[in-house]
Amino acid sequence: MLDSVIRPQQRNTPLSVTKTALTIAAICYASCAMGAEEPENTADTGKQIFDQVCFTCHGTGMHDAPVIGDGFAWDPRKEKGIPALLQNALNGLGYMPPRGSCTDCSDAEIEAAVKYLVRD
Ligand code: HEC
Repeated sequence: MLDSVIRPQQRNTPLSVTKTALTIAAICYASCAMGAEEPENTADTGKQIFDQVCFTCHGTGMHDAPVIGDGFAWDPRKEKGIPALLQNALNGLGYMPPRGSCTDCSDAEIEAAVKYLVRD
């Protein structure tokens, strides 16, 4: 029953219609992929900055820095909230120099790195 409804339509579909559909699909695919990249970029930036700048201490525990992924070290800090953590990262705290010593990093880059560092 369903076959008899669908099959004649498929057989009669002109090639040009199929081509148009494929073109639209290709355009949609390209723009959809572009839109989807945005949050990924923020995460990428965070990881990049972390690897280049913050890892020295937060990847190793040097100067007693709270290590990435160490919930025991991060949980009480996270309770301050991201804005407070960001302020301390920007201004420096204890043995951490301002911006983790990355004077070239923008506020947004430091924020991305903080979020990467304290992610759940
Ligand atoms: C030279 C070592 C060092 C580097 C590099 C460094 N940190 Fe830190 N960071 C520390 C230490 C040590 C602490 C703990 C400070 C304290 O509580 O006395 C800390 C604490 C923090 C905290 C918690 C602040 C709070 O309020 O509890 C955040 C967030 C942070 N660092 C982010 C970063 C980011 C992001 C980077 C890279 C851009 C970075 N750190 C680079 C040593 C470093």
